[in-house]
Amino acid sequence: MNTLATRGVARLVRGMPTSDGAGVKLTRLIGQPQLADLDPFLMLDEFGTDNPGDYIAGFPDHPHRGFETVTYMLDGRMRHRDNHGHEGVLVPGSVQWMTAGRGIVHSEMPQQQEGRMRGFQLWINLPARDKMTAPRYQEFGPQQIPQVELGAARVKVIAGSVEGVTGPIVQPATEPTYLDVELAPASVFTHTLPAGHAAFTYVYEGAVQIGEGDSAATANSHQLAVLTDGGPVRLEGRSRARVILVAGRPLREPVAKYGPFVMNTREELMQAFEDFQQGRF
Ligand code: CO
Repeated sequence: MNTLATRGVARLVRGMPTSDGAGVKLTRLIGQPQLADLDPFLMLDEFGTDNPGDYIAGFPDHPHRGFETVTYMLDGRMRHRDNHGHEGVLVPGSVQWMTAGRGIVHSEMPQQQEGRMRGFQLWINLPARDKMTAPRYQEFGPQQIPQVELGAARVKVIAGSVEGVTGPIVQPATEPTYLDVELAPASVFTHTLPAGHAAFTYVYEGAVQIGEGDSAATANSHQLAVLTDGGPVRLEGRSRARVILVAGRPLREPVAKYGPFVMNTREELMQAFEDFQQGRF
């Protein structure tokens, strides 16, 4: 029987060690020379360490304009506070989907002196029409992220739908999918993404086979796989494995970015600098 071929691996990428904020050590997976961007995704950082010296300085006040930041905590606690009076603590298993829109200034600071801090921050672009929208938060604790059991695979649905279970995040501009998949050895998770959506997986524990037959490829721990377009994504645990599967509709618009400002033109970028300096965020 012929079925639609599964999505394969276009590229396997390893992250680049770097630091950001006041000296937080992290691994940059998207937004580095090997993978400059993956429209609509601008950046993906993994932070993961048991050493407080690697994270304790945190991310003091800094601005954002023109895109969204998505923080998914696996371990540890991070306090978030912005200049519009929004404040909260991200706990393990929680998600903060922040639409910076026309601008916020915020800090993201560890709420622990020791122990493990682990998670991801993804930057997703906004289309030109939404770049100057009012800032907005979609924040969900671990109990609010639905989980689907499919045999020996367990899927947390942050955004998108799995077996009729829909994640809490809503973003019509890019229609994102964000799944956290846990696989037992040899267990399989198959998921159909909208055709044309850019997609990647990142294995953060264990190893996973992506696709099947001649085009199958193995992604090992700490490898990001950019997926080809096409049919369903098929993931098979090569060991016990944990992997995020993320997808979204490309915007195909010009990108003018500098640090925490992501606009369409150089003029808009200059305006962002000026507005920030004049305290208009
Ligand atoms: Co930030």
